[in-house]
Amino acid sequence: MSNQKFSTLAVHAGQEPDPLTGAVNVPVYLSSTFELTGIGTDKGWDYSRAGNPTRARLEAALAALEGGTTGHAFASGMAAIYALVATLHAGDHLICSHNVYGGTSRLFNLIVRHDGIEIQYVDTGNLEAVSAAIRPNTKLVHVETPTNPLMSLTDIAAVCEIAHAKGVEVSVDNTFMSPALQNPLALGADVVMHSTTKFLNGHSDGLGGALIGSKPEHKERFLLVQKAAGGIMSPFESFLVLRGIKTLPLRMKQHEENGRAVAEFLATQPKVARLAYPGLKSHPQHALAVKQQRGFGSMMSFDLGSREAAGRFLGALKVVLNAESLGGVESLASHSATTTHAALSDAERAAVGITDGLVRLSIGIEDKEDLIADLEKALRVV
Ligand SMILES: Cc1ncc(COP(=O)(O)O)c(C=O)c1O
Repeated sequence: MSNQKFSTLAVHAGQEPDPLTGAVNVPVYLSSTFELTGIGTDKGWDYSRAGNPTRARLEAALAALEGGTTGHAFASGMAAIYALVATLHAGDHLICSHNVYGGTSRLFNLIVRHDGIEIQYVDTGNLEAVSAAIRPNTKLVHVETPTNPLMSLTDIAAVCEIAHAKGVEVSVDNTFMSPALQNPLALGADVVMHSTTKFLNGHSDGLGGALIGSKPEHKERFLLVQKAAGGIMSPFESFLVLRGIKTLPLRMKQHEENGRAVAEFLATQPKVARLAYPGLKSHPQHALAVKQQRGFGSMMSFDLGSREAAGRFLGALKVVLNAESLGGVESLASHSATTTHAALSDAERAAVGITDGLVRLSIGIEDKEDLIADLEKALRVV
């Protein structure tokens, strides 16, 4: 990893001036194909599915921010997760954290499982359960920490120790923390995954995903999946994420300050139950958050008791928008059971604790007093 500090890397890694013109911003290379210099020779680029100069700059930036050796950008976070498991074979066993983003379990249950890959959901916060679940055919432990939306944490270093002792790789979905607040590779993970749609891009104006690997084998594998399966990020989206990354450290500071203030306010509200924000000392995994994260971010969830109460709350918000997604500059609130986890059956949602009254907040960078006033007003109608 470079000796430069995170804020410097955010502005400069992969974002060196254009060697041709000196442009300080990375040019958007809207070219599907590149003129070859002869038969089998080129200037480094031949076809944009295999590699594009704008995407390559973003991939370098992502690798630098996560301290990885190789970065790969995909069309969405889901495309990145699909790429992560694309090279597993029938008969392989995959362990996944048990209350992950509903899109991840939808992909695993409805598509990946059909390829003959065995998928087992495990509470990866429980180290004994992780150890007990690993079998001779286990190839990957995929951890989401904190989880969406229940904010359960997994001890990344401890899980890596257990998995590595049995020759199993660990990947971590780091979407909720962003590389500004958590670096799984430094804690021993093999691969980091992001939905760049969220904090990395930060402006809710583009979809994207990424895998950052730590070994030469990852580069080979993920390049193959990009070229063979084609779910790559477009040059324009790559530019947007590069631009977003420059302000990631600043945005995360504000997200963090606002997130803490909102969580502290919600903790005082009698209508709010099961408030999950690892920054609060009352969160059962607060000590783990302090150990492996550099902050607590701005994601949280809580229970208002019923779908009707959640609906009244969401309908009364004025500054905070009732919308899916997270990690943008604007604060968003969403009803998990009918959005992020709509693909799960009632029984599956109940099993992981996604109740009908559950609301998730992604706190943005607005003035925290305005946000709290908006939430306070909306709570009055619950
Ligand atoms: C933790 C997590 N991982 C992955 C994804 C999927 O990302 P995308 O929507 O960019 O496909 C999401 C989306 O909300 C998410 O919250």
